[in-house]
Amino acid sequence: MTSWITICDTCKRENWDPVAQPLTDGEILAGLIESRAEAAGVKTRRVSCMMGCARACNVAVQGPGKLAYVLGTFEPTAENAKAIVQYAALHQGSPRTVKCPTGNGLKG
Ligand code: FES
Repeated sequence: MTSWITICDTCKRENWDPVAQPLTDGEILAGLIESRAEAAGVKTRRVSCMMGCARACNVAVQGPGKLAYVLGTFEPTAENAKAIVQYAALHQGSPRTVKCPTGNGLKG
């Protein structure tokens, strides 16, 4: 069953400046994740606010019959996008759930 990465595209980190950076931090992170997800075989979708604004940027990894993991406090970097996609691929490959891998940029 396919796992999904749900990405909040309205997340803005504490020092977000709309003049210097017209895209929100969430939009940047979403683009970085989307560009990697297809190759990993996971799906993505964007939402506007996941009610975790103080922990921006936020994503959720979900799949049918599995635990959903809401993860946050990501900077919108390629390294974090890669870690999120890898986590979603592990989630997808797990029969029931997956332990949060430590040391690869993810925090529970
Ligand atoms: S704006 Fe992203 S969780 Fe609220």
